[in-house]
Amino acid sequence: MQILIHSADAEQWQTAIAKALPTATVISSHVTLEARHNADYLVAWQPPGWLFEEQKGLKGIINLGAGVDALLNNPALPAGVPIVKLRDAGMADPMIDYVRYAVLHFQRDFDRYARQQARIQWQEQPLAPKAEWGIGVLGLGAIGARVAQTLAADGFPVHGWSRRPKALDGIRCYHGEEGLATLLGQVKSLVTLLPNTPATRDIINAETLAALPPGASLINPGRGSLIDEAALLEALGPVDAETRSGKDDGNGDTGRLRGAVLDAFAYEPLPADSPLWRHPRVLITPHMAAPTPRDAALEQVIDTLKAWQAGEQVPSVDPAAGY
Ligand code: GLV
Repeated sequence: MQILIHSADAEQWQTAIAKALPTATVISSHVTLEARHNADYLVAWQPPGWLFEEQKGLKGIINLGAGVDALLNNPALPAGVPIVKLRDAGMADPMIDYVRYAVLHFQRDFDRYARQQARIQWQEQPLAPKAEWGIGVLGLGAIGARVAQTLAADGFPVHGWSRRPKALDGIRCYHGEEGLATLLGQVKSLVTLLPNTPATRDIINAETLAALPPGASLINPGRGSLIDEAALLEALGPVDAETRSGKDDGNGDTGRLRGAVLDAFAYEPLPADSPLWRHPRVLITPHMAAPTPRDAALEQVIDTLKAWQAGEQVPSVDPAAGY
């Protein structure tokens, strides 16, 4: 069995996989072409098109991440080769931390306190009860479901939405267009954890943002493609040129979106001239919400390779659905 690795940290993966599968030949895409050809399996994160032009005998691809959008959008990707993606694989824990932090940013008024501090203003805000702080989680895959259930266990009313009907303990689940509209009307923080597919592109747009209650907040640790950035900026409202603040910088409510915590963008790195960088109600992080921990991911990679070697079927991505 020949395994080809393509990733920024390919050498570490190579060592770990070779150790777990001593009979396999494991090589990295960094070696010379002669050493590289005829791999049976590709283990990769965002492989370039030339790798597929060169590898004509692939029997399976393992995606070293949860999102398969970059892979499926690669025009050179061969049709019919099964793709297995990481499912949670240790990513849900850091994602839960990220989303908790972002929800508390608004529910405990850290956004307002940061602006108050800039004005040297000591003023306690009334505490918004968790039980009245509805959270919407769009996307109930392996990671979204755990995020939703953890926030529910924290005491927040959590509403979940997915493309297909789903049932999750402790979560009010919705699906379809009507379900989305019902969910949006009830949430103070909206968390987007959907995959990037044609069906989810710009799902957060002028219409969906307008369906949120006044003063709601958006948290996107999923994919940039989910958000119409122009509509988001419009919903956040104008920035006062002199004070560099949004209009309701005190405690008031203008009926606009209160703020956004964003980790994923349509173009990454987020271009320097994006107005999102400078918006006082936006907190930006560089796609760091849930890095893939190698140990947990390695276990899934090895299990998949062993199953393939034994001729077993492994649940794989549906390219038509995009996840
Ligand atoms: C990261 O963005 C992933 O898809 O795993």
